Order: sequence, then structure tokens, then C-alpha cells
Amino acid sequence: MTAEELIAEARAAAANAYAPYSRFRVGAVAVDADGNHYTGANVENSAYGATICAEGSAISHAVSCGARRLDTVAVSCLDADGADGGYPCGNCRQLMLEFGVRRVIVDTVEGPREHTLEELLPFGFRFD
Ligand code: THU
Repeated sequence: MTAEELIAEARAAAANAYAPYSRFRVGAVAVDADGNHYTGANVENSAYGATICAEGSAISHAVSCGARRLDTVAVSCLDADGADGGYPCGNCRQLMLEFGVRRVIVDTVEGPREHTLEELLPFGFRFD
């Protein structure tokens, strides 16, 4: 699938974000090694630290459906005015590393930007 198609899926997933505190709606899709897609959105909590990011939600969705090897994560966090919302947080980069994500696609006003996880998380920690 193209980066544009994956970003369209991530944007659609953002519609289910539960973000009453930040009002920052984030959507993501994780694609496993067999090409299956698992969407996720951020789920906030009044105890702010209990918030789950969209990427973590998509990765948990994939893993809890049995996936163990992920290939790609696409994420969209354009705000209500269409401004760039930013890149995956450090914690989500670490979650991606655990399941072998290779390609990360980020939504920006100029279009999808593609990165390797190695670029976003050099010298990441893992047991092996
Ligand atoms: N958020 C994500 O969903 N992914 C990230 O990588 C960074 C931040 C969410 C968490 C919270 O609901 C909101 O964005 C503001 O931090």
C-alpha cells in the first residue's frame, strides 16, 4: 500500500480518538509482516499518565490479535486547523522497536514523510 493510502487510514482512525483533555486527535495504523492492518487512536485519561498513544493503541491491537512481526506504522496527528501535530513520542518508538517495525510514515501538511525506525530511534534498547 502507498504511504498516502496508509495515512488516509490513520486519519480515519483519528476519528475514534478519545481526547477530551488535549483535544489532540491522533490516529495510527500498524501493518504486520503478512500485510494485515490494525488501527488505533489515542485514549486519554483524567489521570494523564494513563493515556495511551495512538501508535501504542494500534500496536497493542495488532499484538493482541496475534501479530508478532510488524512492518510499518503510519500516524496522523494533524490538528483541527490542519497543522502538523508532530512525530511519534519516544515511548512509541520503543514499542515499534519491540515488534520489528521497519518503516514509519508521518502525516505532514506537505504530505506523508517516510522514515526508517533506525532513523527515529538509533541505538534502541532490546534483548538480543
Ligand atoms: N499522542 C499520541 O497519540 N502519539 C504520540 O506519539 C504523541 C502523543 C497523544 C497522547 C495524548 O492523547 C495527546 O497526543 C497529547 O499528548
